[in-house]
Formats: sequence, C-alpha cells, structure tokens
Amino acid sequence: MRILGIETSCDETSAAVVEETGDAATPWAIRSNVIASQVSIHREWGGVVPELASRQHIRDICGVVERALDEARTAWTGLGAIAVTQGPGLVGSLLIGVSFAKAAAAAAGLPLVAVHHLAGHIESLVLQNGEMPLPAVVLVVSGGHTSLYLVEQPGAYQLLSRTRDDAAGEAYDKVAKLLGLGYPGGPVIDRLAAAGNDRAIQLPTTRLTHADRNAPELKGDLDFSFSGLKTAVLRHVRGRETANTFRPALSDQEIADICATFQRVVVTSLIERLFDAARRYQARSVGISGGVSANSRLRAELQERGVRREIPTFLPSLKLSTDNAAMIGAAGLRKFRAGHTASFDLNADAALAL
Ligand code: KG4
Ligand code: ZN
Repeated sequence: MRILGIETSCDETSAAVVEETGDAATPWAIRSNVIASQVSIHREWGGVVPELASRQHIRDICGVVERALDEARTAWTGLGAIAVTQGPGLVGSLLIGVSFAKAAAAAAGLPLVAVHHLAGHIESLVLQNGEMPLPAVVLVVSGGHTSLYLVEQPGAYQLLSRTRDDAAGEAYDKVAKLLGLGYPGGPVIDRLAAAGNDRAIQLPTTRLTHADRNAPELKGDLDFSFSGLKTAVLRHVRGRETANTFRPALSDQEIADICATFQRVVVTSLIERLFDAARRYQARSVGISGGVSANSRLRAELQERGVRREIPTFLPSLKLSTDNAAMIGAAGLRKFRAGHTASFDLNADAALAL
C-alpha cells in the first residue's frame, strides 16, 4: 500500500509517497519526498511571517504534490490513503495542507489520516533506521518544540517533558539574529562554532527541579529552558559593544567563540536530559529528531554517549530531520494500520496535543 503524505505546518510545502515494505523491522520505504522551502522568502524578515507562509503554500501545493506522484511513478489510483499534518503549527499554513488533503481524498475516494506533526518527527527515526527497540525515549527538537517522549508501544507517544520557554531551535535563531548571522540560525551557528573555543565565555546552564505550574502532571525535572541562555548571550554582546566608545563589531573569533560556547551549553542540556530520561524509564534505545537534530555536535555527542552507555541511538538523515512529508506519510501509515482515519470535517489545530 502507498500513502500520500502532505506537510504544510510551517514554512516548507512538502508532499511524499511512502510505501509499506511488508517487512516488520523496516516497515516503510520512501518513493518520493518533495520539499519546497520558503526560507529565502522569510530570510528577508528575519523569521517566518505567517501570512506570507500560507500564501506561498497555496502557490506551491499543487505542483509539489504532482511532482511527488511523478517521482514515485504513482497515479492517484495507486494510492491507498492520504495523510496530512493536522497540527501543531501556523494555522493558516496548516489549513492549506488540510484543505488540499480533504479535497484530494474526496475526489479520489481515498481515506484521510490526520497526523500530529511531532508523531511525524518521531516516526522519521523509524523511516530512516527501522523499528526502535522499545521502550524508547525520543527527543523532538526543532524551531517550535523541545520535548521528550516515551514510546512503549509502536504509535503510542507519552510526553515526559518539554521546554518551559523557547525551543532550542528558536534559541539558535534568536542568538544568530542578535549576532547578525541571518535566518535560520542553526546551520550558521553550527558551522561557525567549529572554529570557536567552547569555554571562551561564561554562559549559564539551567537545571529545573520543580514541576511547572502550567503542567502539574509532569514531574518537571526533565524540562528544558533556553530563554535565560539567550538573554545571557545578549548581555555579553551588549557589554562588549558599550565597553568601547567606538562600538566595534565583534571580531570573527569572538563570534565563533560565542557560537561554540552557546552550542556546547545547548547540546549538553539536551543530551543530559535525554539520557536522564533513558535511565529513569529503562529505555532500550534513544533517538533525536526535528530540525536541530541536524546539528553536528548534537549528532556526535548522541552517538558517543550511546556507545558509552551501550544503548542503540537513532537519528534521521539530514533531509528527514527538518520538516518533510515522508515522515507524515510514515506516521500516517502507522495510524491507518491501527484503524484511525479522519472524517471530512477534519480541521487544522494550531495547538494540537499529542
Ligand atoms: O523541524 P524544523 O524544520 O521546523 C520546525 O518544526 O521548527 O526545524 C527548524 C529549526 C530551526 O530553528 C533551525 O535553526 C534549526 O532547526 N536547525 C539547526 C540546525 N539546522 C537546523 N539547529 C542547530 N544546528 C543545525 N545544524
Ligand atoms: Zn518540525
């Protein structure tokens, strides 16, 4: 069976055809995965502009879907279902994908499957590497999310913790902006950090111990927080500027040092929390997915720590780490096989819970 996946939750319009393999260990194969990125449009504004994003999705969606079907050499009649990201994300953007998927499913007489964006990121690990030994602890870390999930059964995701303020990717983007490095910040900081000293400046690490009043059901000690770190970088940069009457720009070496130190603090906090959770829940594997999982230091430290702890580690390929429709197709197939389909009154939900 082949499924068409559609993803429009933020600033990537993506469509993919994913096929069942019949092999329980490696259940899915990607036939196509077409991504139209809007980064060049939003870069000019220093971040994603929701209204521009939804308008661009409208322009791109038909062509992207046609290309995904072409590349997979699949006709509408060759599909068994259509999966679409229902949320969370920008509501105007989500609506384009949801409306398109509903119309296409109605026209082609296909079942519709509603997918949670983060279930897609979690299943990108299985799409890439095959089924994870369960229970697994997965860190989903992107521009919008930093959350730990426990997966005890395939397709059942239990939230363990999340960020109290900024997502890790958001912190990367904000720090890059204040250093004048452009958008998106993650890839630039990652590149510049390679030339920096990661102990050059003092930056705080945040370790939370109490439950969040807004989420008393979570213990809270596995939560993340990145806004203090971002503010500390801001203070450091401001301090450098006003200490000198000529307000010199930071030297390339100083910028590299800030990037390296910031990256060390972020990566350490992500890795520590992930492995704390793995120990607490006696996980048999751990994984990291989402846009920030493209980070070179995070990937290296995950693998190194996994070897040391003798626990298998899972990462998506770089293409599957940022937003894409193949992961939505994979999560959609999992849900479809579990008997979950959506009706035609499906609506986008910007704050959908997993
Ligand atoms: O998953 P994604 O494509 O979109 C969201 O759902 O947010 O993630 C995008 C985020 C951005 O904040 C971007 O700066 C970050 O992922 N990112 C990185 C790297 N590549 C992308 N962060 C750190 N290091 C990278 N190499
Ligand atoms: Zn995402």
